[in-house]
Amino acid sequence: MTGQVLITALIVSLATLVSVVDGQFSTGHSHHGRGDVRCMYCTPGTCDNVTNTCTSCLDGFYGDMCKQTCPNTCMSCDKVSGNCLKCMNGFFGDGCNKECRQCDTCDKVTGACTSCWSNNWGENCQNTCEETCQRCNVATGECQYCATGFYGEGCNLMCDYCRQGMCDRDLGKCSYGCNDGRYGEKCELSCPQKCRVCNQNDGRCMMCEPPLWGEYCDSRCPVNCDFCNITTGECLECNPGFYGEKCALNCHNCIDGYCEKDTGYCQGACLDGWFGAKCDKKCMKHCRRCAEENKCMLCEKGLAGENCDVQCPTRCPTCANDILTGNIMCLECGGDFKIPEKNCSCTNTKCTKITEIRGKGFACERCAEGWYLRDGTCCPCHHCAGGNQFCEKNGNCKNGCEPKYFPATEGCDQYCDIPHCTWCESFYGHGKICKGCDEGYFLERHGCTPCSSFCKGSSMRCNQMTGVCLDGCKSGGYGEKCDSSCPDKHCPHLVCDIKNCDVCEKSMSSAAKCRKCRDRYYESNGKCLACSPNCEGTKGLCDSITGKCLEGCKTGWTGDKCNVENVIRIEPSVKICRGNCLSCDSNTGECAACVAGSWGSRCNKICPENCRTCDHKTGKCVVFCSKNCKRVGNELLPCDSITGECLYGCVEGWMGETCRYKCPDNGKCTITRKPVFETVYFRK
Ligand SMILES: *[C@@H]1O[C@H](CO)[C@@H](O)[C@H](O)[C@H]1NC(C)=O
Ligand SMILES: *[C@@H]1O[C@H](CO)[C@@H](O)[C@H](O)[C@H]1NC(C)=O
Ligand SMILES: *[C@@H]1O[C@H](CO)[C@@H](O)[C@H](O)[C@H]1NC(C)=O
Repeated sequence: MTGQVLITALIVSLATLVSVVDGQFSTGHSHHGRGDVRCMYCTPGTCDNVTNTCTSCLDGFYGDMCKQTCPNTCMSCDKVSGNCLKCMNGFFGDGCNKECRQCDTCDKVTGACTSCWSNNWGENCQNTCEETCQRCNVATGECQYCATGFYGEGCNLMCDYCRQGMCDRDLGKCSYGCNDGRYGEKCELSCPQKCRVCNQNDGRCMMCEPPLWGEYCDSRCPVNCDFCNITTGECLECNPGFYGEKCALNCHNCIDGYCEKDTGYCQGACLDGWFGAKCDKKCMKHCRRCAEENKCMLCEKGLAGENCDVQCPTRCPTCANDILTGNIMCLECGGDFKIPEKNCSCTNTKCTKITEIRGKGFACERCAEGWYLRDGTCCPCHHCAGGNQFCEKNGNCKNGCEPKYFPATEGCDQYCDIPHCTWCESFYGHGKICKGCDEGYFLERHGCTPCSSFCKGSSMRCNQMTGVCLDGCKSGGYGEKCDSSCPDKHCPHLVCDIKNCDVCEKSMSSAAKCRKCRDRYYESNGKCLACSPNCEGTKGLCDSITGKCLEGCKTGWTGDKCNVENVIRIEPSVKICRGNCLSCDSNTGECAACVAGSWGSRCNKICPENCRTCDHKTGKCVVFCSKNCKRVGNELLPCDSITGECLYGCVEGWMGETCRYKCPDNGKCTITRKPVFETVYFRK
């Protein structure tokens, strides 16, 4: 109650506050305009705008600038002393710090009740209203407002047929309708026999008691259906375990037995061993959980493996396949064995000292040689170099690992079984990758590849990481790794280290050079470069010296080496035509229209003289220069092919850049400048 009053008081002062800020102090000497808070708690109109002091404060505040707050339970207090003048509802006394007894408000001095809590009455509010009454007359106790669930003049009528027992306090009209089987305004009437829900106004049956239907609820719903349409008898919801229009189908192997009426889809998971939306498909034998017939995710207890045909080890009675490594993973240890994550290899039988922890049973404190302590039990050390007596407290090996073993989780627990690999490392905790190979092998794609048989030297040695032969190549092999061989006729006794070279040439002074490259390569500075992939022809050959494509370019390409695209790419997907081409095939660059004055499939040919525009295929002139361009004898002098400007001026009597305008009065023009609008005319 107190809380409520407080909130109300706050809202009041906030509302006042806003009007103060808006009204009086939004102008004047305020430096910040609106939002100046110096006189925020003053009674509006009482603030001195020079000294910022007020003559009167809002309720709840005091002090020169009204910035101090009255004690919590004070409604208002003395502006100077802060002494309480008026208490909040429910409090009394000098400091308003005493609570009224059983009443809402009381005399500030005596504490005598002035108004009661809503369901109390009497001089000192000492009586409570009747149980069926929420508010009663303070003097007489006569009920004025009924408690929930009661109605009528004396509030002695109960609305117990109403849903949730809620009704209108005067008339008893049900607020949320009737309980099953009742109707009428106050639900005072019974629905027809065997009718569960009827129309609240006229009692017409809307739903029979299951499993019945019909106007008189005298027909039975189909088998396996308790709820059906009252007029048609059509099933609305099948009984648990059934589906289909007539509820004639059994749900399959749903874990809770339920499935959807229309589809038969299970609402929850499937029973062990089944899968599919209807849980009607069988997982493989001995498989508990799968999403496909041939892929088991969890086998029956005690079994594992892709086909659930592997017996779990005795030390771990439940196990599963580790999807990442394919290994069997213990899920639970049996007998004396402990710690599933360590493949149940740990055991208390290897404890050499056991201590009792008060109230918590026994714990292992020391382990036998070759075993180390972990989580209160003993786990085996693995493959320490020099023996497992060199195993440290955490299971790591003091002197490293035995050859071919490496640490994956603890100690040297993994065997490096990659062929010809001497040194493995764990790969993100799962699987392994090779980091070092036997002599005669080099690292390639996490495995070991033999050095080339063309490496010089009996051991065929090569760099362990790169495969580059340490002593160069034997005759007949070339390349860094000596892994390419050239036919003997071209390299009689020669070690050629040039790729794609057919005939090598070795000079005394410098490294080997290529004399003749293989087909589809051309020689450049002693090396062999590939012909352009855009060379036309089945073999795509190019000149062995210049690289020029022998049979021209594939469509879309141009240049000697066919390495220039006919179209220019601005971005991978945006292309523009090359050169004078106005529009072109976006793939081949073949021009469909040329800039005025040019023609040809690449618009790289010039139209005849005096021709402004010519046919882009034939070069035949279509638009000549203006007839009024200056002539010498009968011959027109040329014009600019793009603008049409007569480069040597006009014949007499005409003017403008293209000589299209007659001189005024058929006279001679002195103006040779073009009229301004002509510029506009020619601009594209
Ligand atoms: C202070 O307020 C009065 C009346 O509201 C006004 O006439 C006067 O100009 C104000 N003084 C300043 C310094 O803004
Ligand atoms: C019962 O069937 C009638 C007639 O087809 C239909 O109008 C009514 O909506 C159905 N009632 C229910 C609850 O489906
Ligand atoms: C786990 O222990 C079993 C013997 O119980 C062994 O066959 C299997 O290889 C071990 N698995 C791993 C990942 O170490």
